[in-house]
Amino acid sequence: MQFICDLTELSNLDCREFAFSDGERQAVGFVVNRGEETVAYRNECPHTGAPLNWQENQFLDLSRTEIQCALHGARFRIADGICLYGPCLGQSLKKIDTLKVKNRLYAAGPKPVTDQDGGSVWGKGP
Ligand code: FES
Repeated sequence: MQFICDLTELSNLDCREFAFSDGERQAVGFVVNRGEETVAYRNECPHTGAPLNWQENQFLDLSRTEIQCALHGARFRIADGICLYGPCLGQSLKKIDTLKVKNRLYAAGPKPVTDQDGGSVWGKGP
């Protein structure tokens, strides 16, 4: 598991960008805090693979009801990342599995994340 953020630091609908390892490479993701339901996705638009945001931690449209790509304006449903409008209509953001332990949010994945010494950190717990 890899620590993402302390959820008490995020208000409802706040987003937080984070770096993580998927076991093969470093990647960037973001989390959208929706109270009891928190979702996280890779910061990669399905249209071109470009990052979705131009400003730090800004991923939602002006109405704060959908995720919006800053490059060509595609919009995605927050709950499942499916594109509802734009050039990648019907495609979806790649979800990152997360685990909430008390108010701390962690990224989980199919492959182990390694610590600074190259050892696996799976199973060591928060
Ligand atoms: S790169 Fe996101 S809509 Fe084109």
